[in-house]
Parts: sequence; C-alpha cells; structure tokens
Amino acid sequence: MLQVEHIRVSYQRVPALHDISLRVARGEIVAIVGGNGNGKSTTLRAIAGLNRLDAGRIVLADRDVGTLAPHDRVRLGISMVPEGRRLFPRLTVARNLELGAYTRRDSAEVATTLRQVFTLFPVLEERRRQLAGTMSGGEQQMLAIGRGLMAHPQLLLLDEPSWGIAPKLVTKILDTIVAINATGVSILLVEQNLRRALAIADRAYVMQTGRMVLEGSGQELLESELVKQAYLGG
Ligand SMILES: Nc1ncnc2c1ncn2[C@@H]1O[C@H](COP(=O)(O)OP(=O)(O)O)[C@@H](O)[C@H]1O
Ligand SMILES: [Mg+2]
Repeated sequence: MLQVEHIRVSYQRVPALHDISLRVARGEIVAIVGGNGNGKSTTLRAIAGLNRLDAGRIVLADRDVGTLAPHDRVRLGISMVPEGRRLFPRLTVARNLELGAYTRRDSAEVATTLRQVFTLFPVLEERRRQLAGTMSGGEQQMLAIGRGLMAHPQLLLLDEPSWGIAPKLVTKILDTIVAINATGVSILLVEQNLRRALAIADRAYVMQTGRMVLEGSGQELLESELVKQAYLGG
C-alpha cells in the first residue's frame, strides 16, 4: 500500500536521508529500528508530508503523494503519531481526540471512530474531561495514538511509542498496536528498542546515518551479524 522510492531529505542543505526506499504491504506491521540521529523520524515526517523531498517518490495505493500537503495525505489515509506525542496539554482528552478528526466532515462517522477509540483505550473515556497534560506518560501515549486513529487511517505511522513510558505499559501499548493492526490498519513503527519492535513486526528495516543498511523478517534480523554486534551486544 505504501512505497517509498529512493527519497532524499535535507535540513538546511545538510542531507539527513540519502537514498531511502521501503514498503509497507496492506495489513503489515513494519518496523524501522536504529539508534538516535539516524533518520528514523525524518523518514516518517517525509511520508507524512512534514519534510520536503529533494528526490524520490512516495506512493500510496498507486498514487504519488510525495508533493501533497500533510492534511491531504491525512485525508488519503496516512496518520502520524509523532515523536514526543505532541499533545495539546492544556486541552481536554476529548478535545485532543476531536482535533485528530480535523480532516473529516461526517460527524456520525467521527462519533463511531470515537467509540472505537474508547473501546481500545477505556481510560480515555474515563478521563475525557481531564487536561491532557495532567495524565501519566503512558496515558498520554494512548491519547496520542487515539488521536492518530481519529483520522481513520489506512496507514498509521508511530514514532517511538514506548518513549518515556514505564516498562509495564510498554507491553500494553505494543499489544494495542497489534490490536489496531488486526482491525485492518497497516503500521509503520519506529523504535529504538530492536527486540520489542521485532517481537511484533512482520518485517523490519535497520537505519544508520540516513541509509537503510538491512531489511528482513524479525528472525532474519535477530540472526544477522550486524544486528548482533550493533544492537544486541555482540
Ligand atoms: N529540524 C531539524 N533541523 C536540522 N537537523 C535536523 C532536524 N531534525 C533532525 N535533524 C538531523 O537529521 C538527522 C536525523 O534525525 P532524526 O530523523 O530525528 O533521527 P532519529 O529519529 O533516528 O533519531 C540527525 O542528524 C539530526 O540531527
Ligand atoms: Mg526520532
């Protein structure tokens, strides 16, 4: 459903992505792993339309979306849960969720999605009048994912959903990602924690300094020498 073909992205003329290609098939969970500063977030932001392409194409369901504005990509089914969550801390949980549906016109459909989000995360319904900034890190991440789902995406981009979250909740968040995927949403997940990502991903890509250096199934990557040396302590 998503094909990223040879994209290049730079910040103030300094290249951050050199020649990135990847694909996500319908129904897949695909992970991008790699340490800090290697271009994982830049890749997701480029797919969402927040970073301009110097070269390459981004194709969603046979349509080149690489020059479309972010809100048009949201309308076509790409929704991103950004790094660091980027909630509106002084707005309520309910209002943050509503804002996730900003591209949608049909209020009955939005209400249906809201019920689905509350089923997935009952705590968001209990706390719907609470200010987002007063919730725990894990609850805020659930809210950020819920807000992303309010756009009714076909493809959900998740940037380090386990960042700053208690280990017990990380498992719950990853389980929820699997549950979201089971409803038919394809997932592109960025994670620094390679083992956790590979535990739920169908396939993964390893990024280093703006390049994809490895691609494979979870098992293939766990057995690769590069991954063993760089990420699993020899
Ligand atoms: N807004 C920005 N301005 C300038 N450089 C940036 C900006 N965002 C990221 N970079 C640089 O781009 C590279 C990739 O960063 P990033 O995509 O955030 O990596 P990751 O998500 O893997 O940690 C890094 O060298 C980083 O310093
Ligand atoms: Mg990042």
